[in-house]
Amino acid sequence: MGRLRVLSGVQPTGALHLGNWLGAIRNWVDLQKSHETFFCVVDLHAITSPHNADQLSKDSLSTAAQYIACGIDPSECTIFIQSHVKAHSELCWLLNCVTPLNWLERMIQYKEKSIKLGDNVSVGLLDYPVLMAADILLYDADLVPVGEDQKQHLELARDIAQQRINARFGSEEKPILKTPKPMILKEGSRIMSLTDGRTKMSKSAENDSSRINLLDPPDLIKKKIKRAKTDAHLGLEFGNPERPEADNLLGIYAILTGQNNDSVKSECSQMGWGKFKPLLTDATISALEPIQLRYKDLIDNPEELHKVLQEGREKAESAAEGTLQRVRNALGFLSI
Ligand code: TYM
Repeated sequence: MGRLRVLSGVQPTGALHLGNWLGAIRNWVDLQKSHETFFCVVDLHAITSPHNADQLSKDSLSTAAQYIACGIDPSECTIFIQSHVKAHSELCWLLNCVTPLNWLERMIQYKEKSIKLGDNVSVGLLDYPVLMAADILLYDADLVPVGEDQKQHLELARDIAQQRINARFGSEEKPILKTPKPMILKEGSRIMSLTDGRTKMSKSAENDSSRINLLDPPDLIKKKIKRAKTDAHLGLEFGNPERPEADNLLGIYAILTGQNNDSVKSECSQMGWGKFKPLLTDATISALEPIQLRYKDLIDNPEELHKVLQEGREKAESAAEGTLQRVRNALGFLSI
């Protein structure tokens, strides 16, 4: 039997942050040797909210460089830009025509973002999860490593495959699309904002101090952690619902120093914030330093990156073509 297939992606909307790395990309790195992996930069998703056209291509290239800098190895994985593979848009259209509108209207992320955007909500924003389903289903992915916030979108992709394509146009013995499973790590799947431990760290939050970006220089990291929200309790602890900031920052510290929660508990339970914050700052700076050095090398050599993305596009196109043809045939399109 071949290796299980994995597909995932990140939007090229500004710099990637600790949540993207610890919740998703870190997991991709662990899978690349044992699985057949496809990682895309989802630029078509990035235009579902108002975007800056001068910045999109730079951000796409930078995101691909950050994947590699985080340890994604182009000789093991297929790294590509979503819009370079036309099959994503075509499958999205086919899935659009079988997906009930009310499935999309109840998506939490759509509801949250549309409140923020007001009159600027596009049809694309509503359709975001169908495009994501197309990304995943095109590659017959078995596993999709993502953060906790993507669980509902993964369930939608499964429902579209099973109920709207396989049940209607295929049979149990001969499914047309493979049903993917989410892969969500226990630790790191929900990294919270530095300025409010009850909301998740996010690229779209207005306040840049609410997140640590992978490319933030050491001084800025120091400043952001120094200003991070704390509380007036003595000692530090995990799991107290009254202290979401303590839980979040200790959790980040545990992952970045490669410790389990018990050992962090024994190291930090008697500490105050004044002692803990410099430790977290040092751990963050040293974890990001190799990523930043590698990134600089990569981004200074765009030709190398273009080559990786060109090869990625060819491999992705050939993997996607068969699935698209299967769906076209099942839906009854004329082939000549
Ligand atoms: P994006 O760019 O919003 O997020 C990329 C990945 O980072 C995870 N993530 C987090 N994990 C932990 N804590 C956080 N605070 C945090 N913030 C973000 C997300 O869960 C995600 O795994 N819709 C996807 C992009 C996408 C995709 C796909 C993913 C498009 N097509 C196909 C998988 C498969 C998204 O959330 O992007």
